[in-house]
Amino acid sequence: MNNFNFYNPTKIIFGRGQIASLQHEIPAGARVLITYGGGSIKKNGIFEQVTAALEHVTWTEFGGIEANPHFETCLRAVERIKAEQIDFLLAVGGGSVIDATKFIAAAARYQGDPWDIIATFGTAVTGALPLGCVLTLAATGSEMNPTAVVTRAETRDKLFFNSDHVRPKFSILDPRNTYSLPARQVGNGVVDSFVHVLEQYVTYPAGAKVQDRFAESLLSTIIEEGPKALQEPDNYDVRANLMWSATMALNGLLATGTPSDWASHLIGQELTGLYGLDHGQTLAIMMPAIWTYKLEQKREKLVQYGQRVWHIQETDPTLIATLAIERTREFFETLGVKTRLSDYGLDAKIIPEVIAKLHQHQFVQLGERGDITPEDAADILQLAL
Ligand code: NZQ
Ligand code: ZN
Repeated sequence: MNNFNFYNPTKIIFGRGQIASLQHEIPAGARVLITYGGGSIKKNGIFEQVTAALEHVTWTEFGGIEANPHFETCLRAVERIKAEQIDFLLAVGGGSVIDATKFIAAAARYQGDPWDIIATFGTAVTGALPLGCVLTLAATGSEMNPTAVVTRAETRDKLFFNSDHVRPKFSILDPRNTYSLPARQVGNGVVDSFVHVLEQYVTYPAGAKVQDRFAESLLSTIIEEGPKALQEPDNYDVRANLMWSATMALNGLLATGTPSDWASHLIGQELTGLYGLDHGQTLAIMMPAIWTYKLEQKREKLVQYGQRVWHIQETDPTLIATLAIERTREFFETLGVKTRLSDYGLDAKIIPEVIAKLHQHQFVQLGERGDITPEDAADILQLAL
């Protein structure tokens, strides 16, 4: 097991009716900006619950944050914050709204060009407005981590940054808030949380038994509950298990003392930036292709995954690894998330453009061993057609 620091100060407030606790979590007299997306929170009753719990503060709202949030939109929110002396941000939504709010929180306190925040992957951030979250979509883990992903629409650059300054002070997780999700977003969310675990687990053995078994418990839970969320959207326990799995999948715990891959995410990010695919869709395409390409290097962990999570009974390691990849692809397809570029109308013509973006973003040493170059990514994308 490698050395590690583990730090996670976000308070999680989980369960039915917990939106009401906003009255205790946001300081009295605060000037709050409620940030949200395209308006789902105004149709499913979440906005009313939030505002009912904000009688002790002054609040105003900023809606219209896109899925895969735009840098340009965030800058408009920063102007509002400065004009209205906002001192607390409340993100109500999924990963896009929370990520945008993290960026807004940092940009509101940043003196230079706000793109520096992204260009430095967050190291330029020296402070941020405090923020809290009301989560409406189980997927990204953004509610309990220091990461945000923002897209510059003008140049189609989708990039992440990390900063402890933007960790949410609290996140409210009421599983009932996910009942109204469209099936496509349920599928995307299940794939995203599942892939977060796999990025930190299917690498190479590091003697990290606790982390491996945490990962396996999350994977088994997501396999059991994911399809049920599509069949029984109002099943509280199904939603609760998926929500907590998604948060645990990317709050730093699984990454302790272990190698991480993240190649599916970083190549997938380019696919969203360039062609607008949903985040979950890009992962469902990339992960089986990367595993196929790197089967040799990942074989030991693929075998462990195949045996412990999918209960594959074969004895030949390469066969077990191959079957584990197949099962994973089938699982994504069962959730309604297609796993080939061609399923989304993309063909080999996109490959040079994706490779150019990887070079531009200096993502030239991907994977847990840093041995996936943009040229390897071209071969991987061929496998994903
Ligand atoms: O905008 P509204 O109207 O709210 O609709 C949203 C949006 O259209 C809808 N939705 C959300 N909650 C709903 C709902 N509709 C009905 N009922 C509800 N309760 O769902 C759509 C997608 O929302 P979005 O926030 O984009 O989805 P998700 O949570 O999957 O977030 C994706 C973004 O997070 C980034 C992705 O790259 C992408 O930009 N990620 C963030 C990470 C992080 N911060 O750690 C890690 C992830 O790997 C990921 O990269
Ligand atoms: Zn993800």
